[in-house]
Formats: sequence, C-alpha cells, structure tokens
Amino acid sequence: MCGIVGYTGDQQAAPILLAGLEKLEYRGYDSAGLAVRDGERVPEVVKAKGRLRALAEKTDNGRAMRGNCGIGHTRWATHGEPSENNAHPHCTDDRSVVAVHNGIIENYQEIREKLIKNGYTFYSDTDTEVAVKLIDHYYKKYNEGPLDAMARAMMRIRGTYALAVMFKDYPEEIFVARQDNPMIIGVGEGESFIASDVPPLLPYTRKVYYIGNQELGRLHKGEVTFYNIDQEEIQKELVTIEWDAEAAEKGGYEHFMIKEIHEQPRAVRDTLNSVIRDGHIDLTEAGLSDDVIRSLKRIYIVACGSAYHAGVAAQYVIEDLARIPVRVELASEFRYRNPILEENSLVIIISQSGETADSLAALRLAKSQGVPTMAIVNVVGSTIAREADHIFYTLAGPEIAVATTKAYSTQLVAGYLLGVQFAHVRGTITEEKYEELLAALQELPDQIAKLLEDDKERIQWFAAKYANAKDVFFIGRGIDYAVSMEGSLKLKEISYIHSEAYAAGELKHGTISLIEDGILVVSILTQEALYEKMISNMVEVKCRGAYLMGLTTAGNYNIEDTVDFAVYIPKTDEHFTPSLAVVPLQLLGYYVSVSKGLDVDKPRNLAKSVTVE
Ligand code: M6R
Repeated sequence: MCGIVGYTGDQQAAPILLAGLEKLEYRGYDSAGLAVRDGERVPEVVKAKGRLRALAEKTDNGRAMRGNCGIGHTRWATHGEPSENNAHPHCTDDRSVVAVHNGIIENYQEIREKLIKNGYTFYSDTDTEVAVKLIDHYYKKYNEGPLDAMARAMMRIRGTYALAVMFKDYPEEIFVARQDNPMIIGVGEGESFIASDVPPLLPYTRKVYYIGNQELGRLHKGEVTFYNIDQEEIQKELVTIEWDAEAAEKGGYEHFMIKEIHEQPRAVRDTLNSVIRDGHIDLTEAGLSDDVIRSLKRIYIVACGSAYHAGVAAQYVIEDLARIPVRVELASEFRYRNPILEENSLVIIISQSGETADSLAALRLAKSQGVPTMAIVNVVGSTIAREADHIFYTLAGPEIAVATTKAYSTQLVAGYLLGVQFAHVRGTITEEKYEELLAALQELPDQIAKLLEDDKERIQWFAAKYANAKDVFFIGRGIDYAVSMEGSLKLKEISYIHSEAYAAGELKHGTISLIEDGILVVSILTQEALYEKMISNMVEVKCRGAYLMGLTTAGNYNIEDTVDFAVYIPKTDEHFTPSLAVVPLQLLGYYVSVSKGLDVDKPRNLAKSVTVE
C-alpha cells in the first residue's frame, strides 16, 4: 500500500525523501512523487509513474529540488489508474496546501460535489485531491490556521488516512493526521521525520512517536507537538526503536526474500527465547494468567493470508495438545458475518504488520463484544498491537519482502508456544511430555539452519526445471494441509504460477479432474498416522500423469518408490513439522520466481501491508 515520508530540518530534503521512499518500496506502488519547498517559496512538486527510479532520474536523485522541508509518497492505486496525474503529492491550484495521503476517503464523492459547488475544480480521479481541497476550503473559510482546518476536515471525512500536509503560510513545518493508517514520527537533532514504517527512519534516528487515531501532529525542525481532534495539546511517549539499520538492508543477498529466509533460525530462536525462561514457558508478559488459560472454552484465530495459514497450523496444535476448541477464520469474513462469540473465549489476531485493515476490524469487533483479545504481531507499536488486550510479539525483525517468510515462521512458533503452555496449565499433557515438547521447540532453529544448508541447491535445480509450469497443486492432510496452503501461496504470489492447496482426501471430490500429464503435485506427508493415506492419494494422482514431489521426514525413504523428487526434513515432534516443511517450499517459490526473472521482493499488484479492505 502507499508509503509516506516527510522531512524538515537543515539538510536538503529531496535526497532524504527519495532514500526513505526506496525503503518503503516493499509496500507496493505504481507511481511516486515529492513536494519540496525552499524557505518561504511555494513547494515544487515532481511526480513520476512507475518505479522510483523514474522519479530519481527526473529530479537528478533529488539534487534538482532545493529545499529543507518536504513530503514524499509512493502510490498504490485505489481511486483512478496509476498515472502521473493521480500520483501524490496533490495540491490546490495556488499550492497553498500540498499533501500526501495513505488510506481511503469513503465519502469523497459527496465531498467533491460540495467543493465543486464552492468553486473548486479537480484535475485527478483521487480521493486525496478531494481531502486536500477540503482542508484548503476550511483553511480559507475559517482562517483559524492549519490545525483547525485539518481537524474540521477529519470530522467531515469518513474513511482511513495518514496525511502529511504542507501549508504555504507555514514554512519549515509539516502537519500530520491519522486514522487507521500507519504513521511514525521520528525526531533527531534539529530535524523531524515522517514515515509509514520504521526502515526509512533508521539511518537518522531511533527516537519515534506513534501518532494515534484522530490525532494531529505539528512538525518543526527537531520538535513535534501533538493534538487531539479538539486541538488540545496532548503528550506522547518518545519510544526507542530497537531494530538495527542493517536488519532493513539486503546485506549482500540478491533479494530481501532470500535474506529473510536465511534469518529464520535467528527469528525463531529469538521468539522462543522471549518466552522460554528457566525451562518453562512464561506468558506473563503477554498478560495471560493461568486462571485465564484454565477458563478458556473456545479460541478464535482471525487473520489474513499467511498469518491465516499460521493460524490453521496453530488450530491443529492447540486442539490436539490443549483440547480447547479452536475456530480459525479469515478476517475479511469474520468481520462481516456477525459472529457469535461465546463467553470465556479468546480472540487471537495474527498479523506481521499489525496494520492489516481486515484484521484490525476483526479485533475491534471482538472487543466491542467484550471478548478478550490477544494479538500475535511483529511490528512494535502497530495499531493492532496497541489495541489488543494481550500482546505476543514475534521477534522476526523488519520484514521487507512482500512474501512473508521469517514472520510466518515466528507466527508458527507463537502458535506452538500457546498450544504447549495451554496444555501444560490445563493438565492435558504430562510434565514429561511438556519437557519433551520444549526440547523439540528449542531444536527448531538449528534444524531450520541445517535444512537451508542441505536443500538449497537441490531445490534451486528443481525450481529451474519447473519454472514454466502452468498449474501446481499442493496437497497434505492434517497439519500438512496448513503447510500446503502456505507453500501454494508462496509459489503463486511471487512466480505468478497458478497453484492450489488441497486437503489430500478432498481431491477426488472434483479437483482430480484437473490432473493431467506432467502436472506438478507437491505432496507433504510428515504425519505418521496419515502417511499411508497420503501415499494412496499421491498414487491416485500419479497414475493420472502427475509429476510428484514428496516432502517428508527423514527415515521415510520408501517414499522414493512413489515420488519423482523427494525432499526430507529433520525429525521433530509432529506438531512442529510446519516450521521445517515450509522451508523447502519457500525456497521453491523463491527460486521459481528468480528463474522467471520476476521482481521477487515486489510482486505485481501486491502490497506488504494491506491497510485497505
Ligand atoms: O501483515 P499481516 O500479517 O496482517 O498480513 C497478512 C497478509 O496480507 C500477508 O500474510 C500476505 O498474505 C503475504 N503476501 C503473504 O506472503
């Protein structure tokens, strides 16, 4: 989704804004623009369709735009096609108000008509231009200054926004406002920054403010003042970001995705170590007391995309170990189906970004019904993290590639930890089993590292061979079905090959008619009790011409009698096999995309953080 940056200080703004936008490229975009002003002069606005490179060329890497105060934007089209005209920043004809915006103004048509009646004309199809002109309208009509104009606009606008605005009469200042879209304010020595996410800020400062919903901010050089919508000054906590700048760089890898795949052992270890203390899982930081755990009658896990797949895996683990009924739902469905949430339930929202619009809406829905909520989130200070009653931070570090890998892996681990601890507290497993499970969990980081070492080249070779596939199926049973879903998504989102995940036993209820000569079927079979059943399903597709890749546990070497290409994962407790099985599947998706010469980290049409529904 769109990315916003802003700067006011003593340095030249444009190169800083461009560098910041580059760090937000992962969010997905189709055009970009800058507005920079030099002292009291009106802002100069430059925009370009396509990649950021085009904007950098147009501005001589920012050198052609003089000035110490500016805002920048990468746009992911929602209203109006991707074009230079629709790109941000947007401004009034006299450039007295210039702004960038992330989000959607739902009632923009109605506001646009009102503004037309007041003499405004529009040059773009965007809702943002409408917001800019509404602010301008109030600014000129009431003559009470920028905060007043913005607060009035906020009361009139329905929808979501992170807005950064420059007013001609207020040189060296940027005004911001927020509703349900991420925006972070950084402060350094004599300079202030705005960004949609942490990475653009890291080269300059670790000191940040999180602006809340319906709040406004006024940025001067090195100083920020915050206000509520009634324009009363409010105090905010200055937070120190712990992520180091290198974590958001490629560090010698060709793509962020492969770097992040390799960071999984570290990410999983950090997440485990954050709650395993003295040989026990301690969830007190998440605020889950043993009494609450004992009282649970049902758990709802709600998420989108890969986070949903992690939730499906968690369902198998929690139900099997702790014997608590779990229902997993897509946030976009949950939020609109008027769910009946039972008493003594817990709603768990899983989200890497902590900003996904549907997941956030699901969280709010659960809260509005008085049901306790817990968020499994990666981004510290994100909206979901701040609004949930309990928070379990995954420690994946910044994830830049659109296709999630390390964050998904840490979400899996968070699910296991909850399952094991719930089982322990509720007495559904013995002390001995608890210790066994903890030991298995702690082995996972090294096992993932070994898999990466052993399998990379073979998978790379296999991926090159299948790079031209048209359709691929991923099949599995039980928890392997959860991994199939993630493997399928990983492949399709970055390689543009159509793929589907199927519960293996379901194939013959229709889908098997799609199997034809040479079609690749990736079969995952890590569960001993389901092994024979899986082999039967695999034989069924093989005899109809499928080419079989089998992914199983070391020791099941007889699989070679059935499959054309076998991949083995190290032995672990069967509840935790997703953490290992997913690694070759991530590599498969990655190398197919590389073989096809695609933009691995920024696949078409996708955004890292989906802040619109
Ligand atoms: O930030 P979130 O975890 O809430 O994001 C959820 C999905 O948008 C995300 O997992 C998406 O499916 C990724 N492209 C998967 O790689």
